[in-house]
Amino acid sequence: MWKAINRLRSEGFMIEAGTNKGYMLLEGRDVLTAEAVTAHLHHKVPVYVYDVVDSTNKVAASMAMDRAPHGTTVIADQQTAGRGRRGRSFYSPSTTGLYMSIIVKPTFDISKAVLITAAAAVAISSAINQVSGLHTQIKWVNDIYLDGKKVSGTLTEAVSDFETGEIHRIVTGIGINCSTENFPEGTGRNPGSLGGGIRRSQLAAAVIDHFLDIIDDIESRRFIEEYRSRSMVIGRDILIYRTLDAPGEPARALDIDRDGGLIVERPDGSRETLSTGEITIRMP
Ligand code: BTN
Repeated sequence: MWKAINRLRSEGFMIEAGTNKGYMLLEGRDVLTAEAVTAHLHHKVPVYVYDVVDSTNKVAASMAMDRAPHGTTVIADQQTAGRGRRGRSFYSPSTTGLYMSIIVKPTFDISKAVLITAAAAVAISSAINQVSGLHTQIKWVNDIYLDGKKVSGTLTEAVSDFETGEIHRIVTGIGINCSTENFPEGTGRNPGSLGGGIRRSQLAAAVIDHFLDIIDDIESRRFIEEYRSRSMVIGRDILIYRTLDAPGEPARALDIDRDGGLIVERPDGSRETLSTGEITIRMP
């Protein structure tokens, strides 16, 4: 009996033991706990789960400053000041989304920051497929789309030593809309969700495992082939936005290079590899 109860608890069920009353199931599945995440995890890394934080990236950055071990993960059920790329915010309501930040201790050349972000995109897309069977696509560099709607984004930040300036940790923050609806105005272009029935603890564990598998083998660039096969931009006409308020420059996306850069061709035939900036896909 105990064994069965403990297993259910580790899977995220909330079960109360009452005196002489047996056990009571308090809530349905999908309660986020460190126990539930760890139960599904192959990598043995520290996992911290909070009910509410301002931003998991902020909490993780402060742990990273104290040199938290590689793979340490911070997860929250809700964020009050979730951060997105380019100074945007990330809508992070309770219960319906997965908000997590993974600390990476780099043992590789981190000048190719785009590579880590690309690794996160492949990890998220693979994890979603593993736990739900859904096929998502990657819009360069790290937005995850399902049926034309953005369901996930990543914000990667570097943590450096105050005195030496050396970057000793990287924090990769991942937000996934599992069943979020009614996005507020200004959430960004076309937000969407994966749909119901996803257990966030299982999804979190799958993301961590896929991400750390890729990071631990990043020098081989093996995951780039998978990135290409999940890309929704290769062969498409796009607009490039180099800065927040710059006008979109038309180009065609040709390929992803071995560092995760986007190879594009401009209308005059000249080529360039982008490693920063943002793109949108032009509809025919
Ligand atoms: C984007 O699409 O602009 C990136 C969104 C990144 C959101 C995640 S949620 C967990 C982590 N904590 C944050 O404050 N941001 C990232």
